[in-house]
Amino acid sequence: MTLEPERARHLVRTSYDQLGKGYADWARQNADPVRQRYLQYLLTHLPAGSKVLDLGCGDGSLITAHLVRDHDVTGVDLSSTQIEEAGNTIPNAQFICDDITTIDLSESSFDTIVAFYCLTHVPQQELPSVIARVAAWLRPGGLFVGSFGVDDEPGSVQDDWLGVPMFFSGCRPETNREILTEAGLVIEQDRIETVEEFDQKVRFHWIMARKPGQ
Ligand SMILES: C[S@@+](CC[C@H](N)C(=O)[O-])C[C@H]1O[C@@H](n2cnc3c(N)ncnc32)[C@H](O)[C@@H]1O
Repeated sequence: MTLEPERARHLVRTSYDQLGKGYADWARQNADPVRQRYLQYLLTHLPAGSKVLDLGCGDGSLITAHLVRDHDVTGVDLSSTQIEEAGNTIPNAQFICDDITTIDLSESSFDTIVAFYCLTHVPQQELPSVIARVAAWLRPGGLFVGSFGVDDEPGSVQDDWLGVPMFFSGCRPETNREILTEAGLVIEQDRIETVEEFDQKVRFHWIMARKPGQ
């Protein structure tokens, strides 16, 4: 049985609150080369001074802290523990504790929006509206880079994920593509990437897409 979106969100928030630095510590230990490759792409290709929105930034140590060296970065996360840690350790970025499904941000206000390993916690029925919001927040010509699920998963709870219960959801690659295209984004790169988690191979659908215009 899947959870109502509000209950799913409550579970994600409280579990990341409980995990604290535990998630980033595990992610660093797990040394995910896919995350590093997409991060490296951004570090190499974004024009200096870009306005970047990092959705589901966690404690900021994995992505925000690297991007903030050359860019104006805003991180958003549901978990107050993650955001507090981010604010304490990365003083030159802006952090907002909020929900990406409801947060109010100005239209056309970001050059780049990233969502690394965050959208698989968003209930699948809410994914189209989140991506429509991403498209609205991007300036024309702006870039979106994010990881999605690969399975039609309405929503399930893993009882012990890094020691806490965690909610996951997602859509098949063809649905992810449709959602981006319907939001008006043009897909530039679209790959299924495999990473190792707990000695198991886990697949994610990574998409780079652009808002048309200049
Ligand atoms: C797996 S961590 C990813 C952290 C980092 N982006 C990375 O590259 O590993 C997912 C993060 O997304 C956040 N998150 C999940 N659902 C969210 C939502 N609806 N709004 C804001 N943040 C959310 C969680 O609190 C968590 O910190």
